Amino acid sequence: MAQLFTRDTQAIFWNNNTTAIQRMLDYDYTIKRDKPSVAAIVAPTSSGKFEKFFYGPDEIMVPTFKTTAEAKAAQPQADVLLNFASFRTAYDVTMEALEIGGFSTIMITAEGIPERLARKMNATARANGVVVIGPATVGGIAPGAFKIANVGGTITNIVNSKLHRAGSCGLVTRSGGLFNELSNIISINADGIAEGVAIGGDRFVGSVFIDNLLRMESNPQVKYMLLLGEVGGIEEYKVIDAIKEGKITKPVIAWCIGTIAKYYDSGVQFGHAGASANAERETAEAKNRAMSEAGIYVPESFNDLPNKIKEVYESLHLAPIQEPEMNVVPTVRRSKQFICTISDDRGDEATYAGFPISSVALPSTGKGIGDVISLLWFKKQYPKWATDFIETVLKTVADHGPAVSGAHNAKVTARAGKSVVESLVTGLLTIGPRFGGAIDGAAQYFKYADDNGLSPKEFLGYMKNEGIPIPGIGHRIKSLKNPDLRVKGLMEYAAEYFPSTPLLDYARTVEALTTSKKENLILNVDGTIGILMVDMWRALGYAEEEIDEFISSGTLNAFFIVGRSIGFIGHILDEKRLEMPMYRHPMDDILYDVQMAQEI
Ligand code: ACO
Ligand code: LMR
Repeated sequence: MAQLFTRDTQAIFWNNNTTAIQRMLDYDYTIKRDKPSVAAIVAPTSSGKFEKFFYGPDEIMVPTFKTTAEAKAAQPQADVLLNFASFRTAYDVTMEALEIGGFSTIMITAEGIPERLARKMNATARANGVVVIGPATVGGIAPGAFKIANVGGTITNIVNSKLHRAGSCGLVTRSGGLFNELSNIISINADGIAEGVAIGGDRFVGSVFIDNLLRMESNPQVKYMLLLGEVGGIEEYKVIDAIKEGKITKPVIAWCIGTIAKYYDSGVQFGHAGASANAERETAEAKNRAMSEAGIYVPESFNDLPNKIKEVYESLHLAPIQEPEMNVVPTVRRSKQFICTISDDRGDEATYAGFPISSVALPSTGKGIGDVISLLWFKKQYPKWATDFIETVLKTVADHGPAVSGAHNAKVTARAGKSVVESLVTGLLTIGPRFGGAIDGAAQYFKYADDNGLSPKEFLGYMKNEGIPIPGIGHRIKSLKNPDLRVKGLMEYAAEYFPSTPLLDYARTVEALTTSKKENLILNVDGTIGILMVDMWRALGYAEEEIDEFISSGTLNAFFIVGRSIGFIGHILDEKRLEMPMYRHPMDDILYDVQMAQEI
């Protein structure tokens, strides 16, 4: 891998660190990336499905998941994991991600992961060919392409330090703070950086100086490299060896901080866990000397480093960089109160899930109401066999005469002088678990029974325990002798056009048992619709969780609601046309059993 990140790189951000994510998205907007650099967030304790962020003046939704596995499955192209878990969890999160696979880079921000675990984690990553940045780091950046979290600070800082577009220096430091400082120094004394990594301050970090410098050696954008080492450890000597062996040929500037250590009587532990010399050759002085002897450009002091950068950069005579156009992140932004993901009325013509209304409404388009439902309810264009099925369902349940409970209520309401909408709502409010609203329940329970391999007998026993009649079974007037021809029609349609109907096949074995007990315990129209919808969604490739979500949100009953509204309105208009008077129920049809009230 020559380049750590490109303009297409996307990350999964572990932990809902909204400030850091917003900074990444502000960066993306500034450099005009096509896709946001954060594809998903892992937020184990959040119940939400997404988090809103600004993308320039607008807002976007970044999906959130409870686990890394779910996030990776939903966003497989995201090959960077930004592990912002605490030091207690960071090891497990990294190891799990390595197990899941598909990550090329994992950045770990936590400081203080137990050293034994850090070594195991780093070794596993190395064995899997995964670049680890950290632990104990702010991360890295490929200017103009991808920026990790808070690297570079605010967007103003970033632009001032020319981190919004690629320069020619490859920068490797241990420290995050000094990384920002050096980016600024490089932007003033040279043309900025091409790629930069703060490898982290812990004693055992994943990728070390040499790993990053060797990658930069093969990255054509990098023309020279700047290494900021520090007292402690011997990693700088590996760089010296690589230069001696000819593995690094680009000019390297380097400085080891911590030269002040010699003024202390005893060994000094600087800020980083790894910043302490255990032997003479680990001191900053010794390392600076050895690097200078190996031909690395080593300044006299840190203060002299800017001059050294200028000197090396100018000696390369690189072509000046064409400054790219950038977007400016607005300073005042307003968060939106509502979200709409199904239709858009902002253009000349409103759209249903991206389809202009005329492209589905006019007869010449060949589209029907099934297409409109598939777009507006499911945000997908279903194939014809499925949209035709939806239409068949709507037409099938449009009405079942005036005697059914919902139509009766709508008629009584209309006769009380109420409007179409009031009477319709009365009818709709009658739809429920016994009448027309057993479709979701049928899908839920039959799917549960089939998923769990329950035999029809076991299923009946299970429902008895639940204490409710099996949704989708039974009818007041329809039975084996007086079969419901609507059910027959739906089944015939499915047999002809569905790729397969496994749940219906199972339901029919249940029906065989219930009708053997009582002949009206047939698979009714609600049951048939609910079960066939599950078969339809499975055939359309929906995941089980998606289907469960359709069921639990009441999607299936909605088919009855839409279809039967047509019939209810018909009955209401019938009442109005006939100018029927107010209805009063005949008293002789009521059993009055009212006792004289007892005194308490
Ligand atoms: N599962 C198990 N047993 C049932 C079921 C069922 N779904 N439905 C009725 N039974 C049993 C009853 O427990 C009762 O048993 P019992 O005689 O031993 O006491 C017997 O059958 C008769 O019960 P009723 O409630 O009187 O049956 P009825 O014919 O009046 O009810 C109804 C019909 C309401 C549809 C009922 O079968 C039911 O609740 N089904 C489940 C809900 C459902 O699917 N509704 C949608 C119907 S279709 C539509 O509305 C568009
Ligand atoms: C309907 O479609 O309304 C029915 O199946 C219910 C009924 O009582 O006929």
